Amino acid sequence: MAKESLKIPKKIPTHLAIIMDGNGRWALEKGLPRLAGHRAGTENLREVIEACAEFGIQYLTIYAFSTENWNRPPEEIQGLMKIFRMMLDRELNNLHEDGVQLRHIGRLDKIDQELRDKVKEAIQLTKDNKTLILNIAFNYGGRDEILHAVKQLMEDGHKAEDLDEDLFAKYLYTADSPDPDLIIRTSGEYRCSNFLIWQAAYSEWYFTSTYWPDFGREELHQALTVYDQRERRYGEIQNIKDV
Ligand code: IPE
Ligand code: IPE
Ligand code: MG
Repeated sequence: MAKESLKIPKKIPTHLAIIMDGNGRWALEKGLPRLAGHRAGTENLREVIEACAEFGIQYLTIYAFSTENWNRPPEEIQGLMKIFRMMLDRELNNLHEDGVQLRHIGRLDKIDQELRDKVKEAIQLTKDNKTLILNIAFNYGGRDEILHAVKQLMEDGHKAEDLDEDLFAKYLYTADSPDPDLIIRTSGEYRCSNFLIWQAAYSEWYFTSTYWPDFGREELHQALTVYDQRERRYGEIQNIKDV
């Protein structure tokens, strides 16, 4: 089907982050098992990634599995790991051809060897790609990231007086990405669920009731159109002349 032509808004976020939520409810409302929702939630990823490149976004971070998601039933966790493995097998070459550079944020140490190796291979294969940087937040938690950074800073022998925001940010998993300009959360939940808690200090948020498997290019465009209207003040005032 031909893509609808969409007017690209003037102000595009350099870094978009997405909390891909609602897979389970999408499935249950259709009388399907939750894992069918997780599978469906990988089918639309390609469209969203392509649309990000089309709209000029340079960094996309997607929340795929949180440090708290280990508290789900083992069958769901195993099913999710299998879906991630299959997704990498299916999509890696396409992503590489499209110039997507894959990165991982979070911890790989708790992940089984086969999947960990696949992730590392994908990072290695795509490391010179330039079209879009895709950070996959997988076994990621913002609090874990901050604690990890503090421990590394201490191990590297930094003193309290050395520490400032720039140095701290260099120790986060996202050291090589700018802070997200826009964060989208699908499925009608209004919380950050431990996602990018340091980096989101001045991010704009866009919430939609759409479940993640139904989120696509047009709704991404809608979110960007809303972002284009936002005024980011960073604690300042808009017009100094009004004082
Ligand atoms: C998001 O969908 C995917 C993951 C957290 C892995 P959910 O599985 O949280 O779906 P809901 O929120 O239960 O509908
Ligand atoms: C956040 O969604 C994690 C991911 C999307 C991977 P959750 O569904 O796990 O978050 P809560 O439990 O509703 O806060
Ligand atoms: Mg959820």
